[in-house]
Amino acid sequence: MSGTNSQDRLAINQDRLWASLMALAEVGSYIDGRSGLRGVNRLALTDAEAEGRRLVIRWMREAGLRVRVDEFGNVYGRREGLLADAPPVLVGSHIDSVATAGAFDGCLGVLGGIEMARILDEHKVLTDHPIEVAFFTEEEGVRFGTDMLGSAVAAGRIPLDEALLRADVTGITIGAELERLGFRGTAPARLAAPHAYVECHIEQGPVLSAAGRELGVVTGVQAISWQELTLFGRSAHAGTTPMELRHDAGLAAAMITLKLHEMVDSGKYGDLRVTVGRNDTYPNLINIVPARVVCTIDLRNPSETYMQAAEEELRRYLEVVTAKTGVQITPRQTAKTPPVEFHDDVENVISEEIDTVGLSQMRLLSGAGHDAGEIAALCPTAMVFVPGEYDGISHNPREYSTPEACANGINILTAVVRRLAAKDSL
Ligand code: GLV
Ligand code: MN
Ligand code: MN
Repeated sequence: MSGTNSQDRLAINQDRLWASLMALAEVGSYIDGRSGLRGVNRLALTDAEAEGRRLVIRWMREAGLRVRVDEFGNVYGRREGLLADAPPVLVGSHIDSVATAGAFDGCLGVLGGIEMARILDEHKVLTDHPIEVAFFTEEEGVRFGTDMLGSAVAAGRIPLDEALLRADVTGITIGAELERLGFRGTAPARLAAPHAYVECHIEQGPVLSAAGRELGVVTGVQAISWQELTLFGRSAHAGTTPMELRHDAGLAAAMITLKLHEMVDSGKYGDLRVTVGRNDTYPNLINIVPARVVCTIDLRNPSETYMQAAEEELRRYLEVVTAKTGVQITPRQTAKTPPVEFHDDVENVISEEIDTVGLSQMRLLSGAGHDAGEIAALCPTAMVFVPGEYDGISHNPREYSTPEACANGINILTAVVRRLAAKDSL
């Protein structure tokens, strides 16, 4: 494999990268009432996210990238290589956010890719393979219910027609929002296999900072299972209805939450993580026994075997809840991905480049889901993690990574992409 050497190692412009992260964070920003921190609320295919898209596309064009938008709103910016017909080295991530986000989740990988393109141009670096910088639609999955949706469509795991019909809680579909916002593009949503994919992302957890490491080489992504449960109880008077005559959907939801935590505590399901993140109660009034609850269950596990055991135990427990409370339960699986292992060769290139600049590193599994987990089905893939501050808190306005850490990650991304974009790499 041909490679760069220390003589022609490029340093990205840390201030310019930081300025772009901060500027994008203004789009969809709000002030968190309790902490006073600036947060970001840029759910997929909202007006705010469309504004973010337009800004990032402008930056792509200013960096000399040729932009194409696919039928699912995934956006690619291309820098040609010397071998015109060779598949590109792809980098990217997402710019949609959860409702209580910080500035870094996803955005670092996208804006870092654009900064990489600027630096390559400024140094007149030509690569053999083309390079593309992507951002994928609805990575977070919080609006339309399925995470990594755009990259799953690009990778062919979820059919385009089916994905376009996914709707938010008000019934608005992705297809309708793409049309409304002008992001239903014409490029094929199915991505031809890239040469390789590399994603730089904030870790979003405490592992790197606890170990005192400056960068992480990501070995894969743990399994994810999402369900939406609809619990059908019966509304009744809070004062007059004897406890034994109730079908209380709120009680059923609470039992399920407790059971999930007991499953974690039992140690029988490996490193299981459980979250009941959404709990919509109807009619949501003080003196009425809840008639209906819609709640979501997010399960994560590094092991598919343990994941399946946990899902099975939960399924059995739902029957117990119905028997005890009279509440009928309809589960709907909204997302499910097995653990993904990244590619050794790409991991090794990342690790070598980190060693070359003398930064500390470790290998780790990703706790969060990432577009890389989907694109890994198409081509050799791995990720670079930069540490987050404050125990790596994320999906929270306090999410923070230092300018130096962000630059470290994107400098490594740039070096890795240059190596992978050389003719005989991989
Ligand atoms: C993506 O942020 C996830 O939920 O892992
Ligand atoms: Mn992310
Ligand atoms: Mn996220």
